Amino acid sequence: MSAVIEAHGLIKSYPYEGDAVRALRGVDLTVTAGESVAVVGPSGCGKSTLLNVLAGIDPPDAGRVILLGEELGEMREAARSRLRLERVGFVFQRFHLLAVLTARENVLLPLAEAGMGRRERADRADELLEFVGLSHRARHRPPQLSGGEQQRVAIARALANRPEVILADEPTGELDSRTGGAVLDLFARLRDQGVTLLCVSHDPAVAAGADRVVEMADGRIVGQTERGSR
Ligand SMILES: Nc1ncnc2c1ncn2[C@@H]1O[C@H](COP(=O)(O)OP(=O)(O)OP(=O)(O)O)[C@@H](O)[C@H]1O
Ligand SMILES: [Mg+2]
Repeated sequence: MSAVIEAHGLIKSYPYEGDAVRALRGVDLTVTAGESVAVVGPSGCGKSTLLNVLAGIDPPDAGRVILLGEELGEMREAARSRLRLERVGFVFQRFHLLAVLTARENVLLPLAEAGMGRRERADRADELLEFVGLSHRARHRPPQLSGGEQQRVAIARALANRPEVILADEPTGELDSRTGGAVLDLFARLRDQGVTLLCVSHDPAVAAGADRVVEMADGRIVGQTERGSR
């Protein structure tokens, strides 16, 4: 199986009042195509930092990330943005939807950015809203949607350009167990379609649905559990 994400020796500190917070202290991680991986660990152990580094949103101080065959450290920022836009879906903990746009317009945005034609864009947005079960809420703006509905719009947006890999930071973090369950069902369907998934989460339900659980503590990977195929 080919590697979709390869990380070698990732180190990252945040400067803090003359001192530094060492958020990543040497992380190696490989995720192969079609795999679903959950990264778990206590608050502050470096999960979000790792995800942002793997996505090329933040550069590591040392170490390398090869995402979808591309060495992120050797690319210009514009090329990294392009790679994220076209081939990676990112789901944030707090949705990051644009409040002035409707659900449908939020989903249309990355399609327009990727240069898709108007007609195709409209069809794709409708298909995505149907996939996440929100066709009936297409014209609602985020403040007029529940937390679970907003997260499903955010997932529809992340899926817009048919990403090969989805990176998700606490995708159920703001949701109750029922709406969180609906989001996890969506991830299970994506996994069955062959999309590679990397989720960081506190939620045991997220870990329960993954092929592999990677445990982090204090900026390091301290354990891994492989599950049999489901
Ligand atoms: N911009 C920043 N400046 C200084 N320190 C930071 C910054 N961002 C994160 N940190 C610190 O780096 C460490 C790792 O943070 P990170 O957000 O990766 O943790 P996390 O595992 O995602 O935690 P949580 O589960 O609470 O989301 C924490 O100790 C945090 O306080
Ligand atoms: Mg975090």
